[in-house]
Amino acid sequence: MEILIQPSKQEACALGARWIARLLRAKPNAVLGLATGSTPVLLYQELIRLHREEGLDFQAVTTFNLDEYLGLAPTHLASYHHFMRENLFRHINICEKNTHIPDGLTTDVPDTCRKYEDQIQAAGGIDLQILGIGGDGHIGFNEPGSSLASRTRIKTLTERTRQDNAPFFDSPNEIPRHVLTMGVGTIMDAREIVLLAFGETKAQTLAAAVEGPVTASVPASILQFHEKATFLVDEAAATHLKRADYYRWVDANKPKWQQV
Ligand code: F6R
Repeated sequence: MEILIQPSKQEACALGARWIARLLRAKPNAVLGLATGSTPVLLYQELIRLHREEGLDFQAVTTFNLDEYLGLAPTHLASYHHFMRENLFRHINICEKNTHIPDGLTTDVPDTCRKYEDQIQAAGGIDLQILGIGGDGHIGFNEPGSSLASRTRIKTLTERTRQDNAPFFDSPNEIPRHVLTMGVGTIMDAREIVLLAFGETKAQTLAAAVEGPVTASVPASILQFHEKATFLVDEAAATHLKRADYYRWVDANKPKWQQV
């Protein structure tokens, strides 16, 4: 586990984008796991810039998104299909057929979820999974209490998460109660994980995930068991980390070959 504290979320996202670019240059047909929400927006903007200005190539890349609201059409402005199209896909040279997001309009949830898992397997597994973290410690939409071995399935959102996501909906009644999400076990199968966390509102949860006990009550804490998990955070999100100075020291003293 590695914790990289950056002065700002702009710098953290620039580093995250270089991380992804390094992978794509080494493996042009890499499989990326992607997140939505406010956290990765700047990261995606930086990837778009790298594509436009430095020719970062997405032609052979495959992507799998973490989650989608159940009942929302891909055209709904709050759907994650819409989010991904507007914030990343339509600005880069990715093939639409290589992008995957759970089908929020499915009429057979178990079958759709099983097939999503199969598609990830068939693509060779996820090379690099990007994550945000919910205020309650969720990853994907695996709310506290989710099985740490769970696979893609339906989940019921907590009222807190519904309220956190309220700004994207016209009225509170419109916010879906159910979602399809990769499971914690699905996420943990990724060969590498980069979790982004920015701002004071994430500080307490981040500290619980990184330095607290591993528990289903804080699903992100399972990343302590991942062989290659990196937390890319800004100063504000790092304020509750007890070992922040050590993490900075480790970063400042990295051998050259380890630097991105
Ligand atoms: C999004 C996702 C969620 C978010 C989390 C943080 O695909 O899976 O886990 O990463 O809710 O959301 P923001 O970034 O809006 O604070």
